[in-house]
Amino acid sequence: MKITIFGSGYVGLVTGACFAEVGNDVLCVDIDQRKIDALNSGKIPIHEPGLDEIVAENIKEGRLRFTTDLREGVEFGLYQFIAVGTPPDEDGSADLRHVLSVAESIGTYMQEYRIVINKSTVPVGTADLVREKIGSVLVERNVDIDYDVVSNPEFLKEGDAVNDFMKPERIVVGVDNPRTRELLRFLYSPFNRSHERFIAMDVRSAELTKYAANAMLATKISFMNEIANIAERVGADVEAVRKGIGSDSRIGFSFIYPGIGYGGSCFPKDVQALERTAHKHGYHSRILQAVEAVNHDQKSSIVRKIRGHFTDGIKGSVFAIWGLAFKPNTDDMREAPSRRVIEELLSDGARVRVYDPVAMDEVRRIYGEHDDIFYASNPEEAIKGSDALVVLTEWLVFRSPDFEMIKRDLAHPVVFDGRNIYSPEFMEQSGFTYYSIGRPPRGVS
Ligand code: UDX
Repeated sequence: MKITIFGSGYVGLVTGACFAEVGNDVLCVDIDQRKIDALNSGKIPIHEPGLDEIVAENIKEGRLRFTTDLREGVEFGLYQFIAVGTPPDEDGSADLRHVLSVAESIGTYMQEYRIVINKSTVPVGTADLVREKIGSVLVERNVDIDYDVVSNPEFLKEGDAVNDFMKPERIVVGVDNPRTRELLRFLYSPFNRSHERFIAMDVRSAELTKYAANAMLATKISFMNEIANIAERVGADVEAVRKGIGSDSRIGFSFIYPGIGYGGSCFPKDVQALERTAHKHGYHSRILQAVEAVNHDQKSSIVRKIRGHFTDGIKGSVFAIWGLAFKPNTDDMREAPSRRVIEELLSDGARVRVYDPVAMDEVRRIYGEHDDIFYASNPEEAIKGSDALVVLTEWLVFRSPDFEMIKRDLAHPVVFDGRNIYSPEFMEQSGFTYYSIGRPPRGVS
């Protein structure tokens, strides 16, 4: 099949590469010439395991191409995917400018039947706006060409996106007629594997499904962070509580890990956008507001513990920070809790020595050369000359470090663990003062 993907960002690139991987001819279109030039020469702008290989392989096989030519894109594929960004605007609503501009291009250049498939995360009702936009351009052109607009939200996790696309748990498609539904089912048949993953529904339900899924997951996290905060106050251990409730199959073990709050490009933006959508339709969502408020507060939780420990203040202190990306296996720093931690420590007059296995370039891009930020090239270098260690992302390389070295090189043997990756008993036995989330501190004198 011939497929055009508008937007060569995270979602567009993964979608394009994976469709090519199962034998389709894919043309990816982006208005950013530099990005397209880089992609054509095999350079991938994001860190995503497995993506480089399938992009390179499919470019070589001639199944994957990149262009800035919108007309060529519209003429190419029967399937026209819209996978452009929907950044939040001033009030937190999704900004549809890019989506509608692709719709306008499709209307401008289409010559025959096209299926327009929205993969960007967009508010309920956007498919109708896309349909109207294309329709109005066709009227201006004074032509009558048939087209369908479909909603097909993505559920890709950063760091595991290729896998999620190739072996999806579900393929949600919102369509308004059986013919389009079957064309989409056919397109996705290579990904259906052992049992039917294809869930067809009406367009608005598909649009809402994406937000509901992310909002539910974000709710689980904020709920658990709230339980952690309660556990700290009543002297309980949230990790024991997590195991205790997770074993109830109705609750389940996933997404109930307490921490320093969720970040990334999806949860913060989508919770806010759903709340705005509800508001615009006359509904005040108390849950979504609370989820967001708890998350906002949680990002400062580790700094509160640091301030609580160093009662004389932290002006002039130096903190080693391990883990900067919003989660492991990505270099994504969008809404990363580490940013709040770094900024609060700096505003208290402290300095930081930061290290992340892959996000260093991103962090440098954000903070630039900075008197109070030392960019370390390995975890040990971050520790040297620091007063205490703060762990913010649960990368595997941080899980079993050389604690003897850490104790020797830190001015104070204090560890602040924002992800509960160490055992409190072990830390205390190893001679550390240890703070984590939702568990009583250890080794505090
Ligand atoms: C998420 C959804 O999982 C994905 O389906 C959707 O398409 C996009 O948004 P992603 O943003 O890549 O994916 O990250 P995810 O792995 O879901 O983690 C999100 C955040 O929640 C991270 O900051 C993570 O640290 C945090 N988290 C996750 C917790 O704090 N506790 C948990 O138990 C799980």
